[in-house]
Amino acid sequence: MNQTIKEEINKRVEKINGILEEYLPKEQGGQKIVLEAMNYSVRVGGKRIRPMLLEETYRYFTKNTGELSSEEMQVLAPFMVAMEMIHTYSLVHDDLPAMDGDEYRRGKLTTWKKYGEAVAVLAGDGLLNYAYETAAKAWKNHTDSGKITLSSILKAYELLTVKPGISGMIGGQAIDVENCGEELTLAMLDHINELKTGALMEASMMIGAALAGADEEKLDLILKSASCLGMAFQIQDDILDRTSTTEELGKPVGSDEKNHKTTYVNLLGIEKASGQVEKLSEKAICYIKDCQGENPFLLSLVEYLIHRKK
Ligand code: IPE
Ligand code: IPE
Ligand code: MG
Ligand code: MG
Ligand code: MG
Repeated sequence: MNQTIKEEINKRVEKINGILEEYLPKEQGGQKIVLEAMNYSVRVGGKRIRPMLLEETYRYFTKNTGELSSEEMQVLAPFMVAMEMIHTYSLVHDDLPAMDGDEYRRGKLTTWKKYGEAVAVLAGDGLLNYAYETAAKAWKNHTDSGKITLSSILKAYELLTVKPGISGMIGGQAIDVENCGEELTLAMLDHINELKTGALMEASMMIGAALAGADEEKLDLILKSASCLGMAFQIQDDILDRTSTTEELGKPVGSDEKNHKTTYVNLLGIEKASGQVEKLSEKAICYIKDCQGENPFLLSLVEYLIHRKK
């Protein structure tokens, strides 16, 4: 089972990497160095979980486990690419000396380590803006004969503006850095993680659902599911920061301790924290099932993430 799901995931990662290549900016002009740094940050790899969740949630609601039509992909792809660009920008900035000060990411030098801090700041900004420029292509690519309506594209775009912002990911990162070295309660840590990690998971899954035409009630179920998944994902990230190796993770272990961060591992211990990952992932699956769509891969993917090693 594990082997099959891994193969399925790898196939999707390859497809997503192909799509990213189509949309990455050309490295040219006086600003070439920033464009190079943007593309470097995206190309060095990553699990591509967020664009994958976006597409698979769309499939779940449309109950289409086969090939999506090219009309559908023309709208989905710009949003998938935008999600990965926004996620990558969040990592480029998260690694800066002003934040976590880490030197390795995705198995390679972090963007600031390779290009310097100024270029890394601009490359992060560049990715964020380019994400919206890219997502806007969904409008241009939209056709009246296709299944995806203009109003669902508008809803998806709205989610893409709100979730990564100050009330979402940026908000969480702000509270996270503000509280370095502080002893946090579980409730505060939950709040930080719901925002810093949950928000981009919510954006990914809700955009997939919105493009498939999900109504408000189902969007709310997907919001709850993605929030649980995001929490589980961050708890596992905290566990791996303690238990994994830099080779396996592609980023430095012990980063949280270095930065005096309170994590779930500090507060709960590894065993209880792992139990939480399992519980939250089960909850995430229940909320998805409540939507009564169909896509066994999406459910297996959420389950797989519980035991992820990187
Ligand atoms: C890392 O995200 C940051 C967290 C939210 C924990 P990922 O673990 O998805 O990083 P990549 O994209 O695979 O490098
Ligand atoms: C940051 O969390 C999550 C983001 C929003 C970028 P971490 O600081 O724990 O992420 P890693 O461990 O560096 O990937
Ligand atoms: Mg951080
Ligand atoms: Mg970090
Ligand atoms: Mg971490």
